[in-house]
Amino acid sequence: PTSPIADLDLPRAELSDNARIVLAKRYLRKDEKGKPVEEPEEMFWRVAYTIAQADAKYGAGEEQIRALAREFYLLMTRRLFEPNSPTLMNAGRPLGQLSACFVLPVDDALSNGQSGVYDTLRSMAMVHQSGGGTGFSFSRIRPEGDLVNSTTGVASGPISFMSLYDSSTEVVKQGGTRRGANMGILRVDHPNVEEFIDCKQDITKITNFNISVAITDAFMRAVQKGEQYDLINPRTQQVVGQKDARAIFDKIVQNAWRTGEPGVFFIDRANFYNPVPHLGSYEATNPCGEQPLLPYDVCNLGSVNIGAFVRDDVPAGEAWSDRIDWKEYRRVTRLATHFLDNVIDANQYPLPEITDLANRIRRIGLGVMGFADLLVRLGVPYNSAEGVEIGRRVMEFLDEESKRESERLAQTRGVFPEWEQSIWGPDETAARAPNGERIRPVRAMRNCNVTTVAPTGTISIFAGCSSGIEPLFAVAFMRNQAGSLMPDVNEDFTAIAHAEGWYSAELMERIAREGHIHFAEVPEHVQRAFSTAHDITPEWHVRMQAAFQEHCDSAISKTTNFPNGATVDDVRKIYELAFDLNCKGVTVYRDGSRDGQVLSTGATKT
Ligand code: GDP
Ligand code: 5AD
Repeated sequence: PTSPIADLDLPRAELSDNARIVLAKRYLRKDEKGKPVEEPEEMFWRVAYTIAQADAKYGAGEEQIRALAREFYLLMTRRLFEPNSPTLMNAGRPLGQLSACFVLPVDDALSNGQSGVYDTLRSMAMVHQSGGGTGFSFSRIRPEGDLVNSTTGVASGPISFMSLYDSSTEVVKQGGTRRGANMGILRVDHPNVEEFIDCKQDITKITNFNISVAITDAFMRAVQKGEQYDLINPRTQQVVGQKDARAIFDKIVQNAWRTGEPGVFFIDRANFYNPVPHLGSYEATNPCGEQPLLPYDVCNLGSVNIGAFVRDDVPAGEAWSDRIDWKEYRRVTRLATHFLDNVIDANQYPLPEITDLANRIRRIGLGVMGFADLLVRLGVPYNSAEGVEIGRRVMEFLDEESKRESERLAQTRGVFPEWEQSIWGPDETAARAPNGERIRPVRAMRNCNVTTVAPTGTISIFAGCSSGIEPLFAVAFMRNQAGSLMPDVNEDFTAIAHAEGWYSAELMERIAREGHIHFAEVPEHVQRAFSTAHDITPEWHVRMQAAFQEHCDSAISKTTNFPNGATVDDVRKIYELAFDLNCKGVTVYRDGSRDGQVLSTGATKT
């Protein structure tokens, strides 16, 4: 059969062989035998055309839609921008669910016909089936041992229900493409907080959840002063006890040092920036933490590959800001924002409550990937004041240009329906932060939130760039290729080695085997510019996260890496620093602290 795109005269996608393999495995439409029945180019056109078609709702004719689809196609196939995985998998297909992030409410009831524990369990299965990830707060569940009126029995507590959700996630495999992924959150003032902090210390338990403690500002103040803080039973809203804030903070830090979990979610800070507080408060985030969301809230993500904007016509010696093609970065950011706004209209949501809220607030999450590539190409170390400044500036640019596009879209499509009472609304009606402050200027936006930084775990692989804002994990590693081990070396690194005349196959292999580049043959400036996750101290990880957070509506997905020999106290300082620098959360990982680590240097990866 001839390809449906044969007559369109579209250029071939700029993809490596490895990228094509990843796409075939995870994204392409398949027949009953699991054999792909579309080419990557057909997939990208399917997505581009489906998303462009949403413009019809705002008066575009077929010719305009085709022209826009072509632009979207080029954006994705030139690897300048990619939407989140569900959009690539499901756009233009029967499922039609295009979003990666959901938060569902869990009420303190087995079933109440809407959002009791078992009602939401069912909703979770439906979101997972469609390829989305779910976050839950279990904070409203009465504590273990508490009274159950209807049966005069005793309650089993939030962790038991989280385990139930975990088991169900295990059972529902997502149509062979993605498994379920969850975030579990418990407030630090819940009576079962200690059990929660410990619940994943056995690393074979609750494996389909990331967990974070929702930390309040009151709790952090109590930690600083060495005071007790109140525990509150969510059923009665009564104070039912007190705990020593430092002891609980120590327990969180100790466990994070041991296993990486729990992370922390600074819940009051997230709510300070809630764009639509009249519709509810944030209780939880999506699985990787970059999206604080309301109950039944959803976000579709997309990421601009920022490493692609280094100009090759400006010599390396010039100032970094002159070496970035800001005009092209602006064009891509604007088009990507248009794309994500269209995704909301093209989307088929798994629950009516989600459809309703999505249309009322029109939240989107545009972020970046390839940031480490950008720094390497500019020759600036990640762990440097200049590197952090570049991070701040590129995010500020993305955020502002995306908001301008959102305003432009609002001129023809209208502001999002809840705009007047949102933080963006007119003075008479706009929401104020809890302290009475007006936190944003009046802006007639199409979307309540526009920016975020996602992990880009899969899309960065086929886009062939570094993930999110993470530093390079390694310059090289040994890859198992058809049974033999081959060094896989960062392309920017080999290019420099060739250009500067110190390339040798033996050196590349040594680097891949040993997992570092600190050899005499590698010039000092290259060693600095290619700082990898493990050369970079935790402080720089957090400083970078905070720099990106400064101009970001939602939050930042980031792992702060520690060397194996880091102490508990090192982890504590990082949790405190993240709070002090205005991050919305923090996650740490100490090298080797969990078995079955997915990526590791100086080792092999298949
Ligand atoms: P990508 O688009 O596949 O590269 O996804 P990211 O790694 O950027 O993750 C973005 C969001 O997608 C996460 O925060 C989750 O909400 C969701 N997500 C990521 N990986 C999975 C997965 O394996 N399963 C499910 N159900 N959701 C996921
Ligand atoms: N809170 C926030 N993010 C988390 N991740 C894992 N656990 C948590 C958590 N508790 C994130 C990592 C990484 C992604 C794969 O998931 O930081 O960015």
